[in-house]
Amino acid sequence: MTDAGEPTIGVIVVAAGSGTRLGAGEPKALVPIDGRPMLAHALGGVLGAGEGAAIVVVGPAEALDRTRAVVRDAAGAAAASIVVVAGGAQRQDSVAAGLAALPTSVRTVLIHDAARALTPAVQFVRVAAEVERTGESVIPVLPVADTIKRLDAAGAAVETVDRSELGAVQTPQGFPRTALEAAYAAATRAHTDDAGLIAAAGGVVRTISGSDDAFKITTPADLQRARLRLSPGAGGVPEIRTGVGVDVHGFDEGEPLWLGGVYWPNVPGLAGHSDGDAVCHAICDALLSAAGLGDIGARFGTADPRFLDAHGEVFIAETVAIVTGAGWRIQNVAVQVVANEPRIGPRRHEIEHTLGSLVGAPVSVAGTTTDHLGFTGRGEGLTAIATALISR
Ligand code: CTP
Ligand code: MG
Repeated sequence: MTDAGEPTIGVIVVAAGSGTRLGAGEPKALVPIDGRPMLAHALGGVLGAGEGAAIVVVGPAEALDRTRAVVRDAAGAAAASIVVVAGGAQRQDSVAAGLAALPTSVRTVLIHDAARALTPAVQFVRVAAEVERTGESVIPVLPVADTIKRLDAAGAAVETVDRSELGAVQTPQGFPRTALEAAYAAATRAHTDDAGLIAAAGGVVRTISGSDDAFKITTPADLQRARLRLSPGAGGVPEIRTGVGVDVHGFDEGEPLWLGGVYWPNVPGLAGHSDGDAVCHAICDALLSAAGLGDIGARFGTADPRFLDAHGEVFIAETVAIVTGAGWRIQNVAVQVVANEPRIGPRRHEIEHTLGSLVGAPVSVAGTTTDHLGFTGRGEGLTAIATALISR
């Protein structure tokens, strides 16, 4: 919609409704989605369609200052050229107020519901281009998916309406200015959209395909849909994170070996303030890392008497409580033990079972050696590396 000089395209954003069906206690266009008012989102689509259009925002008469503040925040430098006017009792009155505020240079008018807050910018571009190409009125429509019945006065279904003949209508709706102004001047009754006035005046209304994201926010369920669309983590597509943890302990002949939450007789143990269970510690670090909640040292300290000789399961239980308490669900954990001894393979299922019930999600454990290289290769100690996947 880029245009040099005087604007030939005008966009009227009607935002003066009270939002009775939403029932948010304030004008609908000012109700936030993801922290920003609906009107700000709607203006994002308008402004994203390009520069050069004249923009008129029609706000609630009783909240014009708030409407102006939203326009300033949403449009930045472009706000200076956006006109804000007060709407009327019916949508049609609000559109008329917007039309009256358009500069005379405007030839193509787009009328958009602020309540269709997430309408993509491309829909404005496509509607405007089609009006200019055809010289006729243009509305975006979506096919109707439901079977539609005509009902009688008692609510009984009388007949099925052929849905291939139906379209669900969206905005922005685009018009040659002269046709729209003539239709408004001739209007004798209220219509629920602007194309209805054109059709009543005998004009042609063309259609292009609309967008799922241009749905109208009418009820609290619609608002929730918009919120989920913008913050998938709020309950739509889950937020997913991975984390990594590594722990190393030296062998200590005088200690019993606890590794992977199980006791290993006749094998040297691991040195450490706790029982030195490197597998459990690596799992804790991986979980805390995934959740962005620090690490085991910062959480449990290295000298806390509560954890003196504590078994790994104590740390895992505590860590799982912290991570799930932050709203995360643990999806899985994978651990690799790097050591000559003990051999993981023969007890792998037992360890996986023990750790899986502690973590509350599948845990897989594998073992490997380093071909006699480094401290693990020389049998001085053991390394455990864990990854975790969490979601919410
Ligand atoms: N609108 C308007 N002036 C009115 C009525 C509606 O500018 N007097 C605008 C709304 O702000 C909205 C669009 O027209 O952007 C579509 O109207 P609707 O979804 O019905 O919004 P409300 O009228 O606010 O909601 P309700 O009917 O539930 O009160
Ligand atoms: Mg309404």
